Amino acid sequence: MATYEIRTFGDPVLRQRALDIEDVDGALVRLAEDMIETMYEAPGVGLAAPQVGVQRRMFVYDVGDGPGVVLNARIAESDGEWTYDEGCLSIPGLSWEVVRPRTVRLVGVDLDGKEIDLDADELLARCFQHEIDHLDGVLVVERLDEEQRRDAMRILRRRALDAELGAAPGRDAWRTSASPSGHEL
Ligand code: NI
Repeated sequence: MATYEIRTFGDPVLRQRALDIEDVDGALVRLAEDMIETMYEAPGVGLAAPQVGVQRRMFVYDVGDGPGVVLNARIAESDGEWTYDEGCLSIPGLSWEVVRPRTVRLVGVDLDGKEIDLDADELLARCFQHEIDHLDGVLVVERLDEEQRRDAMRILRRRALDAELGAAPGRDAWRTSASPSGHEL
C-alpha cells in the first residue's frame, strides 16, 4: 500500500465537483486502500478522493468502528442539529464549531457494487456530510458564520504568505483558540 499527499486549501482540485463512479475496477479498489492508509497516517477520520487529487465520488472513513468506503454517496434524509469542533485534513491544524444536522441517512454503493443505506448520528453523520461536501467542491470554511470565516481567511492568507516567503512555522503556530479536540475529516 502507498500513501498520497493530501491536497490543501488553495489547490483548485478541492473546489471542483467530483464525477460519479460508473465502474469499479482494480485501480479503484487500490485507490480506496491507499486512501484508508493515507487517512490513518494523517491521522483523520474521513478522506474524500478529491483530497488526493482524484475527481471521483468516493470517500473513506473510520470513526472508530473500522474502515468503510462509499461510492456515489448522497444524504437521503437529515434531522436535528449538532455542534461539533470540525477540522479538515486539507486545512490542517484548524477547526471551527460548526452546526449541521445531527442525524443523516446515507445512501450509496460499496466497492462490491452493493447498495449502502446507513443511519448515522453525531461524529459519523458529521463525517458523511463533510466528505460529501468535498465531493461537491465545498470546504468547511464555507460552512462558517461570518465572524469565523473572517478569522479563517485571515489565518489562511497568512499561511499562504508564509509559504510564499519560505517561512515554515510548525502547524501549532497557526492553531486558533478553537479546541483541538475535534477530528480532521
Ligand atoms: Ni475535509
